[in-house]
Amino acid sequence: MSRVIIIGSGIAGLFAALRLDEAGHEVIIVTKQRPEDSSTNWAQGGIAGILDKTDGEGMKSHIEDTLSCGDGLCNEEIVRCVVEEAGDRIRDLLSIGVDFEKDGDDFHFVKEGGHSARRILHAKDATGAEIERALNNAVSNSNNISLRPHTLGVDLIQRVHGEPRKGIKGIWCLSLDSGKMEAIPADAVLIATGGCGQLWERTTNPSVASGDGLAMAVRAGAASKDMAFFQFHPTALMAENKMPFLITEALRGEGGVLLDNHGLQKYRNGHDSPENYSFTLDSSPEGSLATRDIVARACDQKMKITGADNVWLITDHLDKEKLHNHFPNIESKLNQFGLSLGRDALPVAPAAHYMVGGLSVDINGRVLMEDGTAMPGLYGIGEVACTGMHGANRLASNSLLEAVVFANRAAEHFASNTIQSIETVPEWRAEGMLKLEEHAPLVRDLETLRKTMTDDVGIVRTFNRLERAKRMLVLLSNEVDLIWRRSIPTRELVELRNLVLVATHITEDAINRNQNRGLHWNKDLI
Ligand code: SIN
Repeated sequence: MSRVIIIGSGIAGLFAALRLDEAGHEVIIVTKQRPEDSSTNWAQGGIAGILDKTDGEGMKSHIEDTLSCGDGLCNEEIVRCVVEEAGDRIRDLLSIGVDFEKDGDDFHFVKEGGHSARRILHAKDATGAEIERALNNAVSNSNNISLRPHTLGVDLIQRVHGEPRKGIKGIWCLSLDSGKMEAIPADAVLIATGGCGQLWERTTNPSVASGDGLAMAVRAGAASKDMAFFQFHPTALMAENKMPFLITEALRGEGGVLLDNHGLQKYRNGHDSPENYSFTLDSSPEGSLATRDIVARACDQKMKITGADNVWLITDHLDKEKLHNHFPNIESKLNQFGLSLGRDALPVAPAAHYMVGGLSVDINGRVLMEDGTAMPGLYGIGEVACTGMHGANRLASNSLLEAVVFANRAAEHFASNTIQSIETVPEWRAEGMLKLEEHAPLVRDLETLRKTMTDDVGIVRTFNRLERAKRMLVLLSNEVDLIWRRSIPTRELVELRNLVLVATHITEDAINRNQNRGLHWNKDLI
């Protein structure tokens, strides 16, 4: 029996754990908060996929939509592989107990931006929570999987210090309950820590999304890829500013329309469809249901030009009963703010949502180094990994699909290439390190980091702004490094160290690009 450590407990980590358990391996899941505190749990829209393996046309169009949304930068082999494996993996989820919405005997499919057909399975407007529930339930019934909640992965342990080519033999982690560091040996480590939305002031991500796994792997010698492509979701509710609530794109799939102040006034004075007044039509004939890069940029531009804090999502022309049945969570959240779905214009604005770039991985999720070779014993799956599936812009609801396909592939790859080689691992070196008495400087540095990313590395960029961000990141990195080298790790310190490193990779990739593609939009390149 080999031992695998999985860091992260979203769809990718939990699904891989179940697969490795089936193959007879011991699995330790290390997760920063409770097992259900993951981005998966917050995913609303759904999981895209063609269930019927004989539906060649359906798969062809899913592949075409994915490639077109990726703006020429998708890896077509990976896209085919994910779309073709979708049916099998979705059936796996069903057999684990995920309860997707039915329409009579058939499943109920919805549509989101960039999809030319209804092909998204969902569980009302809380698909991720349903998937997370079923997977956590299955994991808790397994004898070979142990869960370590409130445990933060800090660094990977290399087999030979300073030689990434020799691979990984475990992790150092921090117990957030005891404050103690621990070294855990393993035959392989699967990183499934999700994204880094916490880099921006407004994000749809949970607080755990601080780029931990990406930073750990990069420090151990892994390569990052396509980091400039960070997706902003166009419709996050403005009522809650710092932690904005996502209003799923599926609502626009059912006919919701985006208007600015001027369009809203004209719509209220006129008697026809709100779509006729949408500013999004200036950017794409698909209007409010164009791909996310286009719609988020249109919202951002409109808000900058008019000085408004938000645009409006209109649903009063839609069937209220249907809205009530399909979007109960959104409805109840809106009610908390005195807003009513199907009646009020909803104030929305873009918010940081999904890391399209990530750790460079191969078709089996093995993490690659700068020279393109795999680092032995290290896998990256889910949002933390850049497989090439999404190119320059992720198609809505392709992420849960990619995560489950690659979790399966990584687990299968490990199971058929297992080398049992648990080695002793060195304890964390704590001599001379001091307890961090004051966290205030870290809090200030985090604020500066978020402000820098929001102002200078947002939806629309310029070289001047990016260079300014780079200079600020050098300062922050030096500050954090100074504290890091003399302090016993705390959650705040570990996360800030990781966030600054990930921000640096995003900014540098953006500076190095000489073309606008998908989510990367530099005004100097127009
Ligand atoms: C949404 O429900 O709008 C988000 C889905 C996704 O990010 O794929």
